[in-house]
Amino acid sequence: MKAFVFLLVVIVISNCLAVDRNNFKTCEQSGFCKRLRNLTPNKHFHILNVDSLKVEGNVATAEVSSVNPEGDTKTLQHLYVFKLSALLDGTFRVELDEESPIYPRYRTQLALVAEPKADELKLIENKDNHVILQNSQGHKVTITADPLKIEFLDKAGNVAVILNEKSLLQVEPLKKKDVKVDGDENAVAVEEPEGTWGENFKSHHDSKPRGNEAVSLDVAFPDADHVYGIPEHTDKFNLRTTTSSDPYRLYNLDVFEFELDSTMALYGSIPVMYAHGPDRTVGVFWHNSAETWIDVENHSDGTVVSSLVNLVTGSSKPKRVDARFMSESGIVDVFVLMGDKPGDAFRQYTTLTGVAPLPPKFSLAYHQCRWNYVDEEDIRTLDENFDQYDIPVDVYWLDIEYTDRKKYFTWDLEKFRHPAEMVANLTAKSRKLVVIIDPHIKREAGYFLHEDATDNGYYVKNKDGNDYEGWCWPGSSSYLDFFNPAVSKYYADRYLFENFPGTSKDVHIWNDMNEPSVFNGPEVTMPKDCQHYKPPQDGLEGISAYWEHRHVHNEYGLWYIRATQDGLLARTDGRYRPFVLTRSTFAGTQRYAAVWTGDNMAEWGYLAVSVPMCLSLSVAGVSFCGSDVGGFFKYPEAELMTRWYQAGAYQAFFRAHSHIETKRREPWLYDAQTMGLIREAIRRRYALLDFWYTLFYEHTLDGMPVMRPLFQHFPQEKETYTIDNQYLLGDKLLVRPVVEQGVTSVQVYLPGRESGTIWYDVDSYQAIPANGFFTQNVNMAKIPVYQRGGTIVPRKERVRRASPLMAEDPYTLIVALDSQNTAQGSLYIDDGETYEYKQNKYIYAKVSYESSSLTYKIVNDQASYPTRSWVERVVIAGIKTAPKSAKMVQGDKQTALQMTLHKGNDVLVIRKPAASMGQSWQINFVY
Ligand code: GLC
Repeated sequence: MKAFVFLLVVIVISNCLAVDRNNFKTCEQSGFCKRLRNLTPNKHFHILNVDSLKVEGNVATAEVSSVNPEGDTKTLQHLYVFKLSALLDGTFRVELDEESPIYPRYRTQLALVAEPKADELKLIENKDNHVILQNSQGHKVTITADPLKIEFLDKAGNVAVILNEKSLLQVEPLKKKDVKVDGDENAVAVEEPEGTWGENFKSHHDSKPRGNEAVSLDVAFPDADHVYGIPEHTDKFNLRTTTSSDPYRLYNLDVFEFELDSTMALYGSIPVMYAHGPDRTVGVFWHNSAETWIDVENHSDGTVVSSLVNLVTGSSKPKRVDARFMSESGIVDVFVLMGDKPGDAFRQYTTLTGVAPLPPKFSLAYHQCRWNYVDEEDIRTLDENFDQYDIPVDVYWLDIEYTDRKKYFTWDLEKFRHPAEMVANLTAKSRKLVVIIDPHIKREAGYFLHEDATDNGYYVKNKDGNDYEGWCWPGSSSYLDFFNPAVSKYYADRYLFENFPGTSKDVHIWNDMNEPSVFNGPEVTMPKDCQHYKPPQDGLEGISAYWEHRHVHNEYGLWYIRATQDGLLARTDGRYRPFVLTRSTFAGTQRYAAVWTGDNMAEWGYLAVSVPMCLSLSVAGVSFCGSDVGGFFKYPEAELMTRWYQAGAYQAFFRAHSHIETKRREPWLYDAQTMGLIREAIRRRYALLDFWYTLFYEHTLDGMPVMRPLFQHFPQEKETYTIDNQYLLGDKLLVRPVVEQGVTSVQVYLPGRESGTIWYDVDSYQAIPANGFFTQNVNMAKIPVYQRGGTIVPRKERVRRASPLMAEDPYTLIVALDSQNTAQGSLYIDDGETYEYKQNKYIYAKVSYESSSLTYKIVNDQASYPTRSWVERVVIAGIKTAPKSAKMVQGDKQTALQMTLHKGNDVLVIRKPAASMGQSWQINFVY
């Protein structure tokens, strides 16, 4: 009996995987979070010295002093330099650093794509404790000097963002151990709060050689209904009030079996937050790469005390969201994005941190991954099966087992004896390979990478200045210090074909474990007192001659993927576009890699959370996002697997992946019906590949997310503010994946009631006028997707076994009419893989429909891309009166066209217009 109970317990435990929270700190266990969170508001004042204010160019500077919080008297404590810069495109930057820190404080290095461009900054007023400044767009900044408060006003003069209203601004002055802050060497030892010079977590000791150096700032968004952003968490898209939980945490961590609905840290940290309400959207970007905690208090949330009071008194809930950023080190450096529409704020953020480069087209197609495809034979069989079962696929992936015992840039030559031949076979079929390369380096004598790194001092150092050793997949490992340009260069060179035999331009890279993950480190990562490279500089020695891991942690992975991208570019002399996938993220990640959401589970909740997780990443610049289709841990039964493929087909990064210990789950291993549904989902993706590609091209132009929250295009419609189980692709398709088990209908919200928006079910072309929620019946084949009236979407109906084979195939244009009988769309075409588009070898066309014509106009006049593709069919949905005849005009050629009207759905189909996509054309209708 006892044995039976024991067995039962074991079975139960092994079936309910869950994060071990004990491995990760709570705010209470994190010295600075606890310290800062306990500060009382309106007590720790700062004063700006208005007489010191100088405005030069786009920058205002002034002295700021902190005030002794203890007495009533305003004893000035410590001196700071305050800097406000006006930047182009409605953005301000506020910086606060110590006036003369005893060591330089860390300034995050790699998040910004370039030095932000200056706008003009005019001093409007400086009197009576107030300073008023204004940028060229008419946004005003009002600074109250005592106590310091900074208000940002929209163009109409309404306060949109307030910094330091609660006086929670802190820049803890750096100190030397046992020496008073004023540097009086003879002073007696001062009593420091516990933990100042060292903290413990579980068995780990953090030596904190610089003591406390945290920073914090409170930010208020008056008039905001909700705040969003600060990925990566598994919470809802609209952020919750954290007064009775831990704050949202940003600290890149490898959280094994991460939980849902959580503010816990995860693999990525992008400290940008947006606030939205009917009046405006604004944002703040907290430019800091150290561990960060963020409190949110939404005053219209049911959980906040004030709203309870309102309930009692019957008054309506006040609108306002307060947030508070707390980081372990660095300076206060915050960008204020003035919006005012959602898209403006999203663009302002990508103006600072960059857009994603145009991806190679294949990378938007379907990827097949598993830990692991074990040998060449396995890959061959996989490839044959995809063809045999007629399922399109572009990329196969090799996980860590392809290497010689986890030594990256090597192959297990038993299992992969002929890597070059294997790759060439894939190339011959227009398919690609992605292999994994992780940042930990196996400490094994004779392994060239380890020997080079040891000999040249390329590893991150431990607190004593010796090579840091941790534990990861290969066992004992060390970690390259990418902050050293020589290391990044060395690493990038490993990707050269001559250094990585077996690879070709068709082999791309997966960078994993780059938080960095250290199995035996504190919180499964690198100790904070590890030492990173800092450019040598006269006078910098001892602890100021290096950066601690604490300063740079969240951007470690970014330096890593940058080196990878550099290497992949260099191996083809910059001819081919590389594809890189990363797990860890920081501000700016989009410039180097696509992102997946890590080790999820084959459970419905994880399928559902893939949408808000990718939405948060998308508005934080990372549009190229997806989740492991099917779930990484556990085994997805047929229904879950089908729904996951159907959802994944409409997320930017579309890859199936699974854990090494799970049962194989390639599509043909399911019953025939399930396989058919999976095939159909993947085929839908391929049919829309040119639509996706065009969206990613347009993102490079304007920084707009590819995957968008509904409120981006319907900012006044309050119901959309909390909808995160559906989203828009561009401004054209609305996707509502089925993420619930066993359902025969789902609730769908169709926005745009006020503006008379019409939505068209993409399966039936049935027009559905926007009217809020409606019930959509679903069966296992149904993926609820709607095209917005007023848009044109390109499709390719002949799906082939890999996307490059479809390059010259003809297009079908789906024209969905709005209530004015008009529609617009666009199409981008190039070779899909090189940078020749930068020499004008591409086609970018605008397509527009008005009642008497459909026009395809190439807008880049010098276009020289020689496409052979043509328009095979035009489908016009929502047509009110059928034209009598139609004529195609292209150059001198005029052709009468055949049309069929499908009554009932009011769909007009024009067959074989047969115009080339290489030149502008027009179809003229006669009524
Ligand atoms: C990590 C990755 C996972 C990968 C595994 C082995 O857990 O998140 O995707 O399969 O490492 O490399």
